[in-house]
Amino acid sequence: MLSFGCLMATLLMVGCTGSKVTSPTLDEVFTSRRSIRAYEPGKTITEDQVRELLLATQNAPSWANQQPSKYYVAIGEEKRNAVLELIGGNKERVANAPVLIVSTFETGKSGFFRGTPVDATGDLWGAYDNGLSNAYLILKARAMGFDTLIMGMRQADDLRTLFSIPASETILAVIALGYRAEEPRIPVHRPLDEVVTFY
Ligand SMILES: Cc1cc2nc3c(=O)[nH]c(=O)nc-3n(C[C@H](O)[C@H](O)[C@H](O)COP(=O)(O)O)c2cc1C
Repeated sequence: MLSFGCLMATLLMVGCTGSKVTSPTLDEVFTSRRSIRAYEPGKTITEDQVRELLLATQNAPSWANQQPSKYYVAIGEEKRNAVLELIGGNKERVANAPVLIVSTFETGKSGFFRGTPVDATGDLWGAYDNGLSNAYLILKARAMGFDTLIMGMRQADDLRTLFSIPASETILAVIALGYRAEEPRIPVHRPLDEVVTFY
């Protein structure tokens, strides 16, 4: 039987027998992904690894393939420190995360045809697409052995200035990327029958 540490190592694709490297299954990715609020200090993630992660988001579906999601990656120390000041009480939680990613979506694309919203949903479709893209991001991150925290608590106006984000984009989440330094608790999930109706 695998020890807990060994199981985690396997999930992180390090393997316990020395040379054998195993990829986590999709279910393992789903169940081992949690919002992480403490990160290992001193561990780095390369730009190439972040590129691989963001490439995975391009497989996400989007409204009429509009692909409205955009990402601003703070991987250098100066930008990363600047972002840390713009996420309120999240600062302590992600202080040791080596990468902070701001996600936005271009407005007036998803949900629009020739500049006119096709229905009352309007730019909510852009937010929908960005959420889908971010879901791919956090799951791919887990599959690569990383951990994440999506943060809605952030100062969007200051982030816009910091990254020169145009007014045509809506700033949604900041996503921390790093290595877990805590074993998170699994949150209580609502019973399926409370949220699903079969007919
Ligand atoms: C849109 C969104 C915004 C969030 N904002 C924050 C945040 O600012 N700070 C934080 O610690 N967690 C934040 N979270 C994480 C949620 O609290 C977390 O996903 C939820 O409690 C379920 O836990 P789990 O992700 O471990 O399954 C956010 C999650 C989402 C999807």
